[in-house]
Amino acid sequence: MSMRLNKNYKKSIKKGFFITGTDTNVGKTLVAASISRTLISQGFSTVAIKPVGSGGYIKGNKLYSHDALILQKYSNNKTLPYSSINPFAFQEAIAPHIAAKKNGINLSVAQIISRSHKALTSNADYIIIEGAGGWFTPINDHETMADLAIAYGYPVILVVGIRLGCINHALLTYKCMNTSRIKIAGWIANFIDKNMLYPKENIEIIKLRLDAPLLGIIPYVNKTKMSC
Ligand SMILES: Nc1ncnc2c1ncn2[C@@H]1O[C@H](COP(=O)(O)OP(=O)(O)OP(=O)(O)O)[C@@H](O)[C@H]1O
Ligand SMILES: [Mg+2]
Repeated sequence: MSMRLNKNYKKSIKKGFFITGTDTNVGKTLVAASISRTLISQGFSTVAIKPVGSGGYIKGNKLYSHDALILQKYSNNKTLPYSSINPFAFQEAIAPHIAAKKNGINLSVAQIISRSHKALTSNADYIIIEGAGGWFTPINDHETMADLAIAYGYPVILVVGIRLGCINHALLTYKCMNTSRIKIAGWIANFIDKNMLYPKENIEIIKLRLDAPLLGIIPYVNKTKMSC
């Protein structure tokens, strides 16, 4: 599926990015938060959202996504209702379509877009949207994160977690991204494995084979613990 859906979908934020990754746990939140902070330091306003987050926790009697709270902290739009920056939160860290089914929730691209409407129509200069998992992480039996990225319509940034296997993951993801009519802003190499051998050589071959700019290289940092 690669259609721009939802006729009623109107966004007033003209600029933004959809952050995807070669996998789960590759640094999407770190990158999304960093981009947001950088934009704020340059004088722009941002809203950063995690439309679907699994692996949440309960506070009071409400379920929160860690990622969404981190993104909220590193963006400067604090007035939006939490439900628009994280419309779907699931407690277990499992694939969203399984979590939705287990909880009897109707998860679809149209639902996600509609429930993030307030964020999309806020008056921020930029919106940064973090996907869940990777490009083809299912949302339901027939839609994936790719469909969501296409529906939002913002340029996509691919975070490549530099670890063994990342070359294959990066090339496969890029090839699939390329089949849809989305704008690929570029990719970011994120050193998530401090014991990775030949990381530079890995980056070189990805650079050679991906027809999209390498936007940045994030070194391994011992203390990245982003708190919310
Ligand atoms: N450059 C880095 N150096 C060291 N640790 C990192 C780096 N980037 C990310 N991490 C760590 O790796 C873990 C995963 O990062 P992050 O949560 O940003 O990934 P993600 O792709 O957003 O994961 P998810 O799929 O759960 O949303 C975190 O504990 C984070 O602190
Ligand atoms: Mg994340």
